[in-house]
Amino acid sequence: MPTLEIKNLKASVEDKDILKGINLKINSGEIHAIMGQNGSGKSTLCNTLMGSPRFKIQEGIISLDNEELNNLSPDKRAKKGLFLAFQNPIEIPGVHLPTFLRSVVSEVHGRIDPEKFIEELEKNIDELNLKKDLLHRDLNDGLSGGEKKQSELLQMAMLRPKFAIIDEIDSGLDIDALKIVAEGIKSIAKKHNTGIVLITHYQRILNYIHPDFVHIINKGKIIKSGDKKLAEDLEQNGYIKYLKDA
Ligand SMILES: Nc1ncnc2c1ncn2[C@@H]1O[C@H](COP(=O)(O)OP(=O)(O)O)[C@@H](O)[C@H]1O
Ligand SMILES: [Mg+2]
Repeated sequence: MPTLEIKNLKASVEDKDILKGINLKINSGEIHAIMGQNGSGKSTLCNTLMGSPRFKIQEGIISLDNEELNNLSPDKRAKKGLFLAFQNPIEIPGVHLPTFLRSVVSEVHGRIDPEKFIEELEKNIDELNLKKDLLHRDLNDGLSGGEKKQSELLQMAMLRPKFAIIDEIDSGLDIDALKIVAEGIKSIAKKHNTGIVLITHYQRILNYIHPDFVHIINKGKIIKSGDKKLAEDLEQNGYIKYLKDA
């Protein structure tokens, strides 16, 4: 069974030590929610897992199916089956979304017939209840917050990753947009048995996506792990209780 394993991961950005020894093991089909206050290191964890060059691993190992990923570039990690949905997707005017998607999908899965590709795109847009208009847009250019998250979701659906890291996809979404995105994540994960690392600040999205495990991250460390009840408790009582114990 595919496994994404993170062992004693320490990482820095701009010479600042941010991750201070993260341990996590995610099997196919499992949903792990990682919750933490702003600045606790959530996005740093995501970017380090995906291999963004600004984030330097100081110690520890990231592996997928026992193969170390530490020294692989983000595109190679994507080929191995890793995917990151950005907290703040960047806008690239002039790059048509379908063209972009076709090029990333053919990089990862091999060349695909253009007509078949468009069929597949339309099918995914329908199944996931996404806006059809996305197919006429440039990559995130001028999209609303919710539309950008839909575009990330479409990318995930087309790439069919083994493991998806989803960074605060709920931030800034109203309740209807949140529902579409959450249902979309669930349906893609179910279809491909994707393992999910769902980063969130709030419990709200977990009303739709029920995690198997919940972890609290603080100051670059996981200070508590549990099940869904931990997230409910956080919502009721806030983070303070756990920070005191850490
Ligand atoms: N590019 C960067 N340069 C300097 N510091 C950074 C950078 N990215 C993140 N940090 C710092 O790392 C810490 C963790 O940030 P981040 O991982 O974005 O937290 P979260 O996603 O949990 O809100 C913060 O103190 C933040 O200021
Ligand atoms: Mg963040």
